[in-house]
Parts: sequence; C-alpha cells; structure tokens
Amino acid sequence: MMRLEAFILFLLSAAAPLLAQNTTCSTPPTPTVWPTASSFPVVSTLPDPFNYLHPSTARVASNAEWYACRQPQIVQMLQQYQYGFYPDHSQETVTATRSGNSVSIAVTAEGRRGTFSAQINLPRPLPTTPVPVIIAIGGIDNNVYLNNEIAVVTFDYTSVAPDSNGKTGAFWALYNGRDIGTLVAWAWGFHRVLDALILTAPEIDSSLVGVTGCSRLGKAALAAGLLDTRITLTMPMSSGVQGLGPYRYYTLSGQGENLENSKQGAPWWSNSVLGTFINQSNRVPFDAHVIAAAIAPRALVIDQGSGDPFVNSRGTATVIFPAAKAVYDWLGVGPNIGLAMRSGGHCDMSGYTNVLPFVLKVFKGTPTTRTYTDMTPWQAIPTAYPWTSNIPPK
Ligand SMILES: *[C@@H]1O[C@H](CO)[C@@H](O)[C@H](O)[C@H]1NC(C)=O
Ligand SMILES: *[C@@H]1O[C@H](CO)[C@@H](O)[C@H](O)[C@H]1NC(C)=O
Repeated sequence: MMRLEAFILFLLSAAAPLLAQNTTCSTPPTPTVWPTASSFPVVSTLPDPFNYLHPSTARVASNAEWYACRQPQIVQMLQQYQYGFYPDHSQETVTATRSGNSVSIAVTAEGRRGTFSAQINLPRPLPTTPVPVIIAIGGIDNNVYLNNEIAVVTFDYTSVAPDSNGKTGAFWALYNGRDIGTLVAWAWGFHRVLDALILTAPEIDSSLVGVTGCSRLGKAALAAGLLDTRITLTMPMSSGVQGLGPYRYYTLSGQGENLENSKQGAPWWSNSVLGTFINQSNRVPFDAHVIAAAIAPRALVIDQGSGDPFVNSRGTATVIFPAAKAVYDWLGVGPNIGLAMRSGGHCDMSGYTNVLPFVLKVFKGTPTTRTYTDMTPWQAIPTAYPWTSNIPPK
C-alpha cells in the first residue's frame, strides 16, 4: 500500500511541471537588469518566496505559476546573487571510460578539456536489477547504503576544483576566468559523474540519484540538487550558511556563522556579487528556505546535529525547514522534504544512518515510522515566516 502511495506521489510530482508549461509569466525569470544589493528593501524576516523579484510587486498565484515562472526565476536569481552562473552544459561533450570500479571522466568545451575520476562502490551480492545511487564527496559511511542495495559513488572534489582561490582541477581547466563559486564547480562535478555513470554503469539506475556531502560539501550537494533536475534526492549534511543555514537569524546559534564571516573566510565558494551584500545581508532577496523550496517537487532531506552551533543547526531546523516545508506543502509534496535532526555535532557519521529511512522511502517506497518534521530540542519560530498566513491559492 505504501509503495503504491509513494508511486502515486511520484506521478503527481512528475505531472506538476508538465501542467505548468503553458502558463504565462507576469514577471520574466531573468530581468533585463539585475537590481543591485543596495536597491533591495531591508527584510528582517525570511523573504516571502511567493513574491517575484523586486521591484516587481507581483506574487505567485498558483502551483502552475510557481513551476512555470517563479521556480525558474529563483534558480536564475540564486546564480546571479550567490552561486555564479552554471556553465552551458549543451556546449560540453562528456566521455567516460571504466576500468573495474574506477571511471575516468573527460569534459571538453570551447576547445578546452578537463578530466577527473570517480569510484563506484556496488552492493554485494549485486541485485539483478539496477540499483539507486548516492553520489558523495568527502567522508560518507558507505556501508549504510551498500547494505541496503544502494550504490555509493565518490569523487575527489579537489580534482574538480580545490577548496581555495586556486584555479586547478577539471572545472577550472574549462572555466577559469568566470565569476563562478566553487560550490557550483563541485555541483558540476556531481553532474558530470552522473553523466559518466549513465555511459558506463548499467548496474546503476540513473533515475534514482542522491547527492550528499557535509559542511562546505553539504553546501555543494545542495547546489548539485538545485541545479540539475535529474537529482532525485538532495541530502545536505550540516551545511550551514550558503547551504541551509539562514543569512537572517544567524544569532540563533549562539556562534553566528553569517554572510560576512562566510564570504570573507572562503570567498571562493560563491561569486563576487554575494560580497556586495556584506553588512547588508537583510537585503539578500532570498534566504536558505528559497533554495530548498526551489528543489520541490523533488526530495530533500536535511541533516543537522543538535550539538552543532557554528552552522546554526537551530536556525536551519526552526526557521528554514518550516518555511521551505510550507512551499512543499502548498505544492502538495510535503512528505518530499524532511528534517533529520540528531544528537551530536558537525558531520557526525551517524547522520547517514539517521537519514536512511527517508532515503529508502524515496528510492524504494519503503514505509517508515521515523518522522522527519521533529525539531527537538527546539521549536519552530513562526514569526520568521509571517507570509505562511497568506499562502496563495493552489
Ligand atoms: C497555450 O496557451 C495559448 C494562449 O492561451 C493557447 O492559444 C494555446 O493553445 C495553448 N497551448 C497548449 C499546448 O495548450
Ligand atoms: C562592514 O562593517 C565592518 C564593521 O563595521 C567594517 O569594518 C567593514 O569595513 C564593513 N565592510 C563593508 C564592505 O562595508
């Protein structure tokens, strides 16, 4: 029964974007001129995700309009003000060669070439039908997934782009000189690995794909899920600011990771435009809930440790999650977003076990009694998202 329900939910969520194709947008996804940071109004609570980009005063009027107009605008807006613009994949050629469980990936574009490799870990014994896959960067507990007939594919993110101002690695071999943040470079790495799996790994079901990483790599996994609709399940772990930590409400954590110290500590994660919001982060025309909401109807599970103040777990749990879930609920896909609170601190490996029932529900329709809405030890702060009292019609 649960399997059938999960399947129907999948069908409904797949149908929604199709319905939207013929909707006329009152505000175009990309404005003629992007407003500057200082021209945005100060908004001290989480911005209303249903409002189109300032200076438009229009508001989304239906689910169909969200998918046809507002979601594409959010994806453009996030690239303009935070990530930098993702390269045009239609101009790239991807080739892959597999040797055992190692895949060498080459991408060419505009006469340049970048290469890196990925490692495939398959469950043993291997099922006779293709298995879902989780693509991961950084440390992950592979066995949690392998033991549940899910493949784990890893790649060395530093061979795509280093975690520094350095411009080495496959991504920068192609795109050095562009104002793009490293989070996008790493996201691009996830996507090119998926391309390579489609070319070389018949053991893997490329329609059931998760992406994960922790901390800065959790920010990257979030970007990977946002920027490629082939990603079925986005799994950012302990992701913090520029992930699912709020720019606003950063004092909730007691330690205060915020736009300023994040942008100044690792300026390469984002584009240069994000820096124009330093000392005026309340003018950012979105907050982390908007990134999460733009992933709908696809699945998103958010790992946070209650003992992880620096990345403001409390802010992610009590303001970002409920604000994003309000959009998922309105779109009729509420169960597709989950908050996976756990005890423990930053990037604790137990997080991978904690999200597993959600992963199995999404990939296999396996029922679970684990609830993914619980914010314990905290409580939601509805004053942070006052627009939920004025949700548009469906
Ligand atoms: C799309 O909308 C236009 C204008 O309302 C209409 O003429 C056209 O037939 C519609 N196309 C489809 C495929 O529904
Ligand atoms: C931001 O504010 C701090 C503290 O007042 C100041 O030192 C810094 O120069 C400001 N930076 C910008 C870019 O305005």
